[in-house]
Amino acid sequence: MKNFISVKDVENIDQLVLEALIEKKFPFANKEIGKNKTLGLIFLNPSLRTRLSTQRAAQNLGMDVMVMNLDKEGWSMETKDGVLMDGSAAEHIKEAAAVIGQYCEIIGVRSFPKLLNREEDYSNEVLNKFIQYAGVPVISLESATLHPLQSLADLITITEIWNSQVPTPGSRPKVVLTWAPHPKILPQAVPNSFSEWMLRSNVDFVITHPEEYELDARFTSLPSGSGQAKIIYNQEEAFKGADFIYAKNWSSYKEYGKIISQDKKWMITNKKMVLTNQAKFMHCLPVRRNVVVADEVLDDPNSIVIQQAKNRIYSAQVVLKKILQTLK
Ligand code: CP
Repeated sequence: MKNFISVKDVENIDQLVLEALIEKKFPFANKEIGKNKTLGLIFLNPSLRTRLSTQRAAQNLGMDVMVMNLDKEGWSMETKDGVLMDGSAAEHIKEAAAVIGQYCEIIGVRSFPKLLNREEDYSNEVLNKFIQYAGVPVISLESATLHPLQSLADLITITEIWNSQVPTPGSRPKVVLTWAPHPKILPQAVPNSFSEWMLRSNVDFVITHPEEYELDARFTSLPSGSGQAKIIYNQEEAFKGADFIYAKNWSSYKEYGKIISQDKKWMITNKKMVLTNQAKFMHCLPVRRNVVVADEVLDDPNSIVIQQAKNRIYSAQVVLKKILQTLK
C-alpha cells in the first residue's frame, strides 16, 4: 500500500479486515516495525477520534508521532499554483508538504470541504497536493469527499459483530445507511466512503434519505456497473429486517452544500429500531443527541458507537502497518 486515500488503495478488503482483527487481538505484536519511524498528523479541521486513535495506532507499532493543527499553528497557506502571494498566505502548500515530508516517513492529512463549490471540493486539492509534494506516503484522515479510516473501522465492527452472532452459513447482514436531521451543513465524506466500502463487502446494502439527498453516483455504484446501492426514500420501509443501522447527516450533493430538509421525523428512535432485526446502531461520532438519534437508541445495549470508535485504532494500525512494510 503506497497511500491510503480510498477503498481503491486496498488490494483485498476481507484480508485487511482480518489483519485488523489480528492487530486488535495482539496490538503490540508489531512493535518493532515502526521503530525510528515518525508519523506526522496534519489537521486543518477539528478531531477527537481520528487524532487520538491514529496516534495510539502508531504508538502500538512503535512509531513516534508529531501532530500539528496546521490551520491554527502554521503559516497561512496558499494552495493554488501560479499565484502572486502578496496577500495573507505566507507559505505555499508545495513547500509546506515537502518540508513535512523531510521530518516524517508517513503523513496523515485531514482537510474538510468548504461546501461552497462542488467541483473545487471534489478535486480534493489539499490532499492531492500533499500526495504530489510530500515525497512520502500519505493517508487520509478525512478528505473533502471520503473518510476511509472511518469506513474501515465500520467494516471491522460489522464483521466482528456479525461473526460473533454465528449467522446462518452463507447469510449476509442487511446494512442500512440512513440520513438523519442536523442543524449544520455537513460534508458527504462519511456516507460517500461508507457506501464505497459496503459495495465491496459481503452485505446487503441500502441507503435511505429524503428525495434530493442523493449522493454522488460515483460512490453509490461500482465503476464496472456491476453493483449499486439500493436507495429507498421511505425510511421505515428501509429499516425493515435491518441488522445494522448507520445514521449520518449530510448536506445536499445536488444542490451543493445546502440543507434541503431538517425533517425531525428522520431522527432515529426506538419506534423505528423495532422495525429492524434487533439492529445494532452505528454512528461515526460526534453525534447530536435527540437531533440525529434519540437518547433511548444511543444508550441502548444495541448501540455500538463506542466499539466503532475503538476500532478506529485498528483500522489505522493495519493501514500504517501495511505502509510501513513497503518502506525500506
Ligand atoms: N469520526 C471521526 O472522524 O471523529 P473525529 O472527527 O472526532 O476525528
